Amino acid sequence: MTRKDLSLSILQISDTHLHAAADSRMRGVTTYATLLAVLEQAKRDPRWPVDVILATGDIVQDESRAGYERFRSVLEPLGVPVYSIPGNHDDPNLMSEILASGSFHLGGELRQGSWSVVLLSTFLAGEDAGGLGPARLQGLRNALSAHAGQHVLVAMHHHPLPMGSAWLDGVALRDAAAFWSILDAHPNVRGVVCGHVHQAADRMRNNVRFMSTPSTCAQFLPGNEFFALDDRPPGMRWIKLFGDGSIETEVRWVART
Ligand SMILES: [Fe+2]
Repeated sequence: MTRKDLSLSILQISDTHLHAAADSRMRGVTTYATLLAVLEQAKRDPRWPVDVILATGDIVQDESRAGYERFRSVLEPLGVPVYSIPGNHDDPNLMSEILASGSFHLGGELRQGSWSVVLLSTFLAGEDAGGLGPARLQGLRNALSAHAGQHVLVAMHHHPLPMGSAWLDGVALRDAAAFWSILDAHPNVRGVVCGHVHQAADRMRNNVRFMSTPSTCAQFLPGNEFFALDDRPPGMRWIKLFGDGSIETEVRWVART
């Protein structure tokens, strides 16, 4: 396998925060409109179409059935499989009803070429913070062992590394130390992607590339101790996973008109 062997191409969208009503606003933006703008720009990108769309949680803001149906109705016509995981604002039961059939998948794993993508739920009922707990940590151990011959990308909603914002790091992944100790024991993990933080990050922890992805709606101001909005526009992340284990990725922001 060489760098040129593309195993999997991904468009990651995150924190769409849709509502039952199409015109509902959150933090100053109409979240349905900004999702449409992101997808319109994605479809004009030379990297489109991708193999899969990865939606890393907070799909709906108001835990409404209509919000999930709106998400599905927007993405389904694109003809690309959609893999999603819940965020703290989501209702995993509604997601399993509406986003786990046909070309829509909830959690689980995706294997293509020399890569596996492991989707990890960090949802904790009634909490803004995330957690894995013993059962999910064991599931991660099992999945990484089962894919020992594969390169692995782990996708989750909550951030497992500090972002340098006290308020945001207070609602991070609680058992991050246990999470990283498992990854440290499985050198086949190449990357971790998350949402939740409404900002872009791309850095290395040991040999694992950690990437956070902006929201398709409003962004948070990086490095701020208290909650504050950034004036950056909606965003998305493009990811290419190559046969040699390398990752090519870029965050694109929606051009203001
Ligand atoms: Fe979140």
